[in-house]
Amino acid sequence: MNMPVVPMEVLKQHLIDPEICIRCNTCEETCPIDAITHDENNYVVKADVCNGCMACISPCPTGAIDNWRTVLKAEAYGIDEQFTWDELPASKPLEEAAALSEQAAFAAEGDADPHALVSGALVPPWSAAKPYVNLYTHKSPLTATVVGNYRLTDESAPRSTPAADIHHIVLDFGATPFPVLEGQSIGILPPGTTADGKPHHARQYSIASPRNGERPGYNNLALTVKRVTQDHAGNAADGVCSNYLCDLKKGDTVTVIGPFGATFLMPNHPNSHLLMICTGTGSAPMRAMTEYRRRRRMKGATGKLMLFFGARTKEELPYFGPLTNLPKDFIDTNLAFSRTPGQAKRYVQDAMRERSADVAQLLKDDQTYIYVCGLRGMEEGVLQVLREIAEDHGLGWPALWERLKREGRLHLETY
Ligand code: A2P
Repeated sequence: MNMPVVPMEVLKQHLIDPEICIRCNTCEETCPIDAITHDENNYVVKADVCNGCMACISPCPTGAIDNWRTVLKAEAYGIDEQFTWDELPASKPLEEAAALSEQAAFAAEGDADPHALVSGALVPPWSAAKPYVNLYTHKSPLTATVVGNYRLTDESAPRSTPAADIHHIVLDFGATPFPVLEGQSIGILPPGTTADGKPHHARQYSIASPRNGERPGYNNLALTVKRVTQDHAGNAADGVCSNYLCDLKKGDTVTVIGPFGATFLMPNHPNSHLLMICTGTGSAPMRAMTEYRRRRRMKGATGKLMLFFGARTKEELPYFGPLTNLPKDFIDTNLAFSRTPGQAKRYVQDAMRERSADVAQLLKDDQTYIYVCGLRGMEEGVLQVLREIAEDHGLGWPALWERLKREGRLHLETY
């Protein structure tokens, strides 16, 4: 007797490589349908939720996100299993996988528009330089030498305040190639192990210096590192990597991976405007871009620079001195302090509202590129105020927002 044939349901399962992932949260934040989650060990994808829309693929700075295994749907790896992984499971034998993949299909393949639900652009500006990514990995990291470690914030800011102790750390790569662009980041592998004996995960830091070096013509770069002394709940807890970095001395060596990031990049056409909005150490990429523009200033860069920068107090604002010394006709700097004694709390959004006519001018201009970097909470507030300003000035926000994303003109990096 012939039994009815029950089709085997096959799934091209989306997985994240725990060996490469730097736990930056970009994928979880980007996923429009909450298919990605994490524990203290790994970032993982829920097989029953992911629809393969690919929105998370290009924002991932390392490429850890772009891993797929063809499996029987009934045998998909669950998130509890993925949380325990130190590496991805081996692929199925090729013939089997090939046969299975012929049948594999994403639930929403073909009709998902990743741009529709993601807040920022998935593509770089058209004139961005081509970045190198993943030149050095966990398996083949690079050693850099500390050539400078300076405290940026005023000493009067007490160490017990989390944002108070911010360092400018310069790493030199000697003769080893490490080409970077403004807006990219690197990973630092702190020495030692976790309580259960595993090596620490890499920590990601935005590069604070321009492509041609912290010192022009040198193979070095700068990082902006805040010493973490409290956990998210406000309990005393020293951050593993930030404390390691802030305590480094000149001549010490550091293990580095990267570079990472292929979208949060600056335009290179000289008439492009930069609208930069940041809080705290989110200023690192803004410093890199501003400094690159400053160095190129004599060579025909006519675009405007407008910066909104938030910190608790003046003393806790990294780069306060150098920033306020930049000529007004070069950069339009707007500071917002939230905890100045005797003054009302002010966020970057408030400063943007006060300058709404000028922000609207930039929003109207097709040459404007917007960069937002800092606390996750600010992202919603900043998008909201951009919407308000656009609509108050007769610009339809939904269409403009879509266009900014499509044209690589709105970049968000929040944590
Ligand atoms: P607050 O005083 O309310 O914490 P941090 O020092 O923690 O890195 O924060 C940098 C600045 O960002 C601080 O002034 C902080 O204000 C501010 N901030 C906190 N939440 C938001 C938000 N949702 N939008 C904009 N700024 C914020």
